[in-house]
Amino acid sequence: MASVQLSELVDFSQKSLLISAVSIAFNPTFWNIIARQEYHNKVLTRLFGGKSQTACYFLAATIFSLGIVRDLLYERALRHQPSHPLLETKEVTYFGFALLALGNLLVVSSTWQLGITGTFLGDYFGILMDDIVTGFPFNVTDAPMYYGSTMSFLGSALVYAKPAGLLVTVFVLFVYLVALRFENPFTAGIYAKRDAERAAVSKSDTKKTR
Ligand SMILES: *[C@@H]1O[C@H](CO)[C@@H](O)[C@H](O)[C@H]1NC(C)=O
Repeated sequence: MASVQLSELVDFSQKSLLISAVSIAFNPTFWNIIARQEYHNKVLTRLFGGKSQTACYFLAATIFSLGIVRDLLYERALRHQPSHPLLETKEVTYFGFALLALGNLLVVSSTWQLGITGTFLGDYFGILMDDIVTGFPFNVTDAPMYYGSTMSFLGSALVYAKPAGLLVTVFVLFVYLVALRFENPFTAGIYAKRDAERAAVSKSDTKKTR
């Protein structure tokens, strides 16, 4: 039985593959650094003359643009990679399109539910959601943005029939899981602080009314 080497499925000599991986890792690193700078030092809000809403919209546009660049670099990397006959079947292609549709549905519905500031790190700007969103897609997954994006990467890999895309998808998932481990405790902390402050306010209100 012939054993298949990863190097036969993926052309590691293509620079576009490395560039794609770098842009995938860069994006969450970038927005986490900026968001924490904003939270601790109000860097972006100051840049926008104290208007945190405007500053958050600016960050949202930046993150969105970086996402488009990342997607273009991924597609370019895929075009430089060899296809595999096992992936070049109709079934695989249809499954890929289904994953693309589902992944985009998760991302779009999540943005719809959270709004722009809720989606793009508004909590770091002090723009907090009033309540935890529990409707779709948050009743299926706690991180629809990240899992939806991962599904889209997988979908493209299958549509293009490129094993390299499968490898990149594993890397995307890894990057997002690291990001979640980094982001979740921090966001939870922001909301815990708000809830503690709310509780303190309502306590002093009860005192006043007595
Ligand atoms: C999530 O919510 C949607 C829309 O309300 C609903 O159709 C779906 O069945 C729910 N899914 C789960 C797993 O609860």
